[in-house]
Amino acid sequence: MLLSSADSKREGFSSGLAVFFATLGSAVGLGNIWKFPYLTGANGGGAFLVIYFICIALVGIPVMTGEFIIGRRGRSNAVGSFRNVTGNPNTPWRFVGIMGVLSAYLIMFFYTDVAGWVYFYFFKAATGQLAGITKDQVEPLFRSVVGAGAKDLKGAMSPLLWQWIVLGLVGTAISMGVRSGIERITKTLMPLLFVLIIMCDVRALTLPGAKEGVAFLFKVDFSKVTASVILSALGLAFFKLSLGMSTMITYGSYFTQDNRMLNTAVRVAASDTLVSMLAGLAIFPTVFSFHMEPSAGPGLLFMTIPLVFSQIPMGSVLLACFFLLTCFAATTAMLSIIEVPIAFMVEELGIKRPKAALVNCLIIALVGATATLSADSTGYLGHVKVLGKSFFDLYDHLSSNILMPIGGLLTALFVGYFIKPATVEEELSNNGTLNNQGLIRCYIFIVRYITPALLLLVFLNTTGIIKI
Ligand code: PHE
Repeated sequence: MLLSSADSKREGFSSGLAVFFATLGSAVGLGNIWKFPYLTGANGGGAFLVIYFICIALVGIPVMTGEFIIGRRGRSNAVGSFRNVTGNPNTPWRFVGIMGVLSAYLIMFFYTDVAGWVYFYFFKAATGQLAGITKDQVEPLFRSVVGAGAKDLKGAMSPLLWQWIVLGLVGTAISMGVRSGIERITKTLMPLLFVLIIMCDVRALTLPGAKEGVAFLFKVDFSKVTASVILSALGLAFFKLSLGMSTMITYGSYFTQDNRMLNTAVRVAASDTLVSMLAGLAIFPTVFSFHMEPSAGPGLLFMTIPLVFSQIPMGSVLLACFFLLTCFAATTAMLSIIEVPIAFMVEELGIKRPKAALVNCLIIALVGATATLSADSTGYLGHVKVLGKSFFDLYDHLSSNILMPIGGLLTALFVGYFIKPATVEEELSNNGTLNNQGLIRCYIFIVRYITPALLLLVFLNTTGIIKI
């Protein structure tokens, strides 16, 4: 390992608990609220969960652990870690890190926009402005939030402003550093998120007709599980666990030396799935008790949820709680995304952290504005198409469908074939202090033969090279 003297002064997480909450904070995001619960319900409930767990075991946990190994062994940013682990300053593997930095930007361009909508709805809910909202009001409100129909920049100012508010908060938090920023914030927000979500669950599950919503989520139906459902479960596992874009390499570089990394990966994956299920239990019983159709995506979060929550007793308070927990989820995920280019700038380009935070926020605000202005097809830049897609969709497509699966695949190949098995064993057994040799052998087998094959399949399918 190449460790310079500066590395001994490098900041890191202070304990196993801090590692857990930070990593979970990255995994838990908008995906848990608007994607996972619906996909589960619509694709066979309990049967989908079984498939998802298999995907987690064969792809999610192996890639996550692989990224932890590279980060903790390399003790540097995404690019520097590859350099340190290979011992070669010019290793071509460092391009995997560079791809990670690129993906992080692409995701931030649109994620900060959507997070801005969430912040806006929280503000509206907390100030009581969503109380008693009607069916005819939810859609115009959402259209105004996303800047639909904006003829000029002035008409699109509101979503831009909220995106800047999000960036201001995330930028301030991240500039405080790994311990006083990321660690302190995720350690506070993640437990609070659990409290808020359970409050929403209790209310939702005591509504008349709640049973139907629970049945939607958990009823086991294996007939719905097709090849394409399996592939979407794989893709979901990947995005959910923030893999393939060096987030977990960067966070892994801050892990304590005695962290049991396989164990951390399993606990994070399980807790993240638990959050998704708890979110589903807050959403679908409420939706079904008002005889509405379950759905996914922005329509669910910004139209259906305000509508049904505002109709139940105590609904306005709960709606505010619900959007607050969604704000927490999105914010802790964004901290982990932006940390990738920040660590890169600080360590590779020698820029001080506060300045790196500022520069990154400015880049994201500038380029991210193109996503914000094109989120709706009638928005100010909605008509502009690059490679047949709006800016918003382009950033999402390039990162989720192309860069992240390739990044994950290369990570699995790097850990499976390039690093010596003895090194993997050293890292996963914490230099032989853990007695888990059988598990490690099993891990090496999966990461060599199974994970890459499955990731290749996802990539070929999402890019349309093969159609399943
Ligand atoms: N896991 C986050 C979510 O579910 C998204 C994310 C992707 C975060 C990649 C970091 C990196 O919303």
